Amino acid sequence: MLPVTADLLLRNVASPTGRRADIAVTGGVVRHVGAAVRADETIDCSRFTCLPGAVDMHVHMRGGVQADKEDWRSGTVSAVAGGVTLVVDQPNTVPPITTPDRLRARIREAGEQAVCGFAINAGVLPDADLTGMWKAGAMAFGETFAAPSSYGEGLDLESLRALFARIHTLGGLATVHAEEVCGTAPETLAEHDRARPGEGEARAVGRVGELAPVGMRLHFCHLSTAASVRAARGSVEVTPHHLFLSYEDFDPDNTLARVNPPLRDEATRRALWSCWDAIDVIASDHAPHTLAEKSVPFRSAPSGIPGIETMVPLLMAAVYRGRISLLSVIEKTSWRPSEILGLPRAGFEPGDRADYALYPDELTRIDASRLHTKCGWSPFEGSEAVFPEEVIVGGVRVYAHGDLLEARPRFCPGKGYLLQ
Ligand code: DOR
Ligand code: ZN
Repeated sequence: MLPVTADLLLRNVASPTGRRADIAVTGGVVRHVGAAVRADETIDCSRFTCLPGAVDMHVHMRGGVQADKEDWRSGTVSAVAGGVTLVVDQPNTVPPITTPDRLRARIREAGEQAVCGFAINAGVLPDADLTGMWKAGAMAFGETFAAPSSYGEGLDLESLRALFARIHTLGGLATVHAEEVCGTAPETLAEHDRARPGEGEARAVGRVGELAPVGMRLHFCHLSTAASVRAARGSVEVTPHHLFLSYEDFDPDNTLARVNPPLRDEATRRALWSCWDAIDVIASDHAPHTLAEKSVPFRSAPSGIPGIETMVPLLMAAVYRGRISLLSVIEKTSWRPSEILGLPRAGFEPGDRADYALYPDELTRIDASRLHTKCGWSPFEGSEAVFPEEVIVGGVRVYAHGDLLEARPRFCPGKGYLLQ
């Protein structure tokens, strides 16, 4: 007699330590590892590398009046097609998320359209109702704009200090976009880099760290240089575009590669890789704009690039090429972000969240026409990548071989939600 019946059995899963085991899942959670069970559905994982689903803690899902760029449906299909099973949306929507009502409306919009797990951050502005949004289920605060960017005004240092004090009192996590802006209307990618220089970013990161109350939970978004990583007093996030692209890869006035913080030169990009071990989180900063919006002179083009679907595939190609370890990718795309946000982790032990992506052995190349984002382009066109063949969210197979099979939206509230 077999001892248990599971919803799903993953057979022959190789953990990052190399141990092979069967994983039995019930109710979206790992129940047994290595035990013989009967299951409603079985997936043989022996020809795959099985990763815990990625948590992309920095995405701009757009939607609302910006649904022509992206919406929750297209953005989260793009997520699962890239092995991401939980997304954390940033509050610089139009209008921004600054009140509990707007946050609740955003949760409703996501709940109706998303196909995977989602969380929503609260906007950080002096007149925002931080406490109300924390109680309404905000996951974290920010990205807080310590410098202006698309759909976000920069805050002065005194406002930031006061807002940090309020966030610290709530026990919240403050996430910060730190830069120095010293030039406007750049005509080229190199000028854009000089207008928002790497040295200025490192200085801004240092200043922001000093403003934070001792013991506050602080997270630095999308750091683009080794000096910024060293200056950070808090957790460190880096994007795939700053790791894999430099502005030297593009024509000088290519607007598609315009992003904040800017792409750097090749030497700076390489130096960022030397900090790999010090990086806590890789997040995409998925910031889609339409080709029409990008098809204007460089000086007036919006900043931001899509990247949720290509993030883990690019990293997996680096694993297959022997540049980084599989374990480091799992830590930076799944386990550390879960820990920083206070979410149960996805993984291979009893009690873990049953979110996985199954990667084949073969490397392919990125073809933007096959991606699922609405914006329809990628700055990583032609780069080596490994895309997942199957993706499991909450113990349910939601995606296989390019097709969405089922939607599993799940709202993940922050810690303040329990206070209601
Ligand atoms: O390039 C960027 N685009 N950087 C940001 O911080 C915001 C983002 C957006 O929302 O478009
Ligand atoms: Zn940002």
